[in-house]
Amino acid sequence: MIAPLNSTSVSDRNACKAGLQPVSKWKAYTLAGYPGFMFILDPFLPGWQCYWAKQCLKTYPRKPNICNLDLHMSPGETKDLWEQSKERLRRKGPHKREAKSLLEKLRWVTLGYHYNWETKKYSPDRFTAFPVDLAYLSEQVTAACGFHQFKAEAGILNYYHFDSSLGIHVDESEMDYSKPLLSFSFGQSAVFLLGGQKKQDPPLPMFLHSGDIMIMSGSSRLLYHAVPRVIPNLEGGLLPSCLEHTSTSNNQHSEKDDWEICAKYLETSRVSVSVRQVLGVGQSFPVESDYEKIEDFQLSSYHQDYCMEKSEQKSVMSNVADSP
Ligand code: SIN
Repeated sequence: MIAPLNSTSVSDRNACKAGLQPVSKWKAYTLAGYPGFMFILDPFLPGWQCYWAKQCLKTYPRKPNICNLDLHMSPGETKDLWEQSKERLRRKGPHKREAKSLLEKLRWVTLGYHYNWETKKYSPDRFTAFPVDLAYLSEQVTAACGFHQFKAEAGILNYYHFDSSLGIHVDESEMDYSKPLLSFSFGQSAVFLLGGQKKQDPPLPMFLHSGDIMIMSGSSRLLYHAVPRVIPNLEGGLLPSCLEHTSTSNNQHSEKDDWEICAKYLETSRVSVSVRQVLGVGQSFPVESDYEKIEDFQLSSYHQDYCMEKSEQKSVMSNVADSP
């Protein structure tokens, strides 16, 4: 069903500043039986998906943002994954056995209130500024969908390759479920499963293609969902054609250079960006007792030690595998 959009709440000029077409041109849909679920088919202006994909690969993984590699590497080693990976990615051939760059080992990045994967909580002690451009994009999209004064406070970027998947889960760590959850897709396509309120409810499968935006709100805000497969884009080329118009400005040499690296990465990968408002108006984080703080700390350090051990085991294994 066609979704009603509020095209007067986002001027064409403001949509354009976020890299979006005028809202009147968007193709947005709802799903019968899933109130609050919305799907917008690639509403980006030509060239702008490349901008957002580059932000996800070059800018957002930088410190002070947090990523999976921080669990077993020092902040110095993960300071700038792009710089450390770009030459290896540029030279990358089609051979699977080549050693992976750090960017290819990236699985997730958190922004704003950094989600704690162990405690499944956000906390005021783990906060860094949310990227202004992504907050602006999220505000335009949510306003067009009828949500006013959405504040982008936390983001999770997931980096997928053809062998990656994301298990079934519900995003319930935020404190105000009246605020929508939005998710942007870039690169290769994915099969997305939209489940029900219970884990065992049969899911509805759908494709997510590059540029698509999904909104979970209302009674769909807390539905189970998963990404079981990443698949090559259906057009058959190495990259979907919407990623072929690179220029958002006067295509300088360095931009072309950067895009060459992004394109190489995206030929075999997909990035999703989910944006959340953590606190409702007037809400604040619950005060944790000392006991809870210790428990959270123990959980996090247990996880860190566990990951260290795993990564040491893995690096021993990959050293063995990599040796001639
Ligand atoms: C998520 O559920 O957090 C991400 C979904 C996606 O990869 O599109």
